[in-house]
Amino acid sequence: MSDQDVASLILSEHDAFRRDFTALEGLEGEALQQAWDRLAAQLEVHAAGEEAVFYPHVVRELPDGGDDTAHALHDHDEIRAAAAAVAEQEAGSEAWWEAVRTAQQVNADHMAEEERDLLGQFKEQIGQEQRDELGLAWLAFHEEHAGAEGLSGDPVGDPEDYVEAAQQERLPQEAAAQEVLEQMT
Ligand SMILES: [Fe+2]
Ligand SMILES: [Fe+2]
Repeated sequence: MSDQDVASLILSEHDAFRRDFTALEGLEGEALQQAWDRLAAQLEVHAAGEEAVFYPHVVRELPDGGDDTAHALHDHDEIRAAAAAVAEQEAGSEAWWEAVRTAQQVNADHMAEEERDLLGQFKEQIGQEQRDELGLAWLAFHEEHAGAEGLSGDPVGDPEDYVEAAQQERLPQEAAAQEVLEQMT
């Protein structure tokens, strides 16, 4: 599998999230706050990146892609809400750790579902060349939005609207990611 394959890039970021959540346990004070801020920003870049680059193709090209995407977007908004709930607590407090563990759990469950239900199917349905091209778009998106720069963090909203727009190839986030890729290549 190519390193630039979007499915591999998503999977390796999932592994990074697993490591980053675990690494919080060894930190305190300012270092803990900074590590959480970086992790929360990366969770947003990951979700928004999937919404711009990966899920439009899941909708259009996987057999149950519409339903799978609606479910995943619901999860993304749950992760966003869980991460926002962390920010309401004082870093390192008991309530803060409880909110972090909730975010860790909802994110872990979602990643496991993507890995079990979608990434393999995606590789079966979408050829290597297209997966590599989407990988480039994924990397360009990460560069453009490093630290969640330019991303609102707002919920993606009604999954049915997203799925319909993806089917009609009129998702604004997909068009924007395509534009970023074109500027960078
Ligand atoms: Fe996701
Ligand atoms: Fe993911």
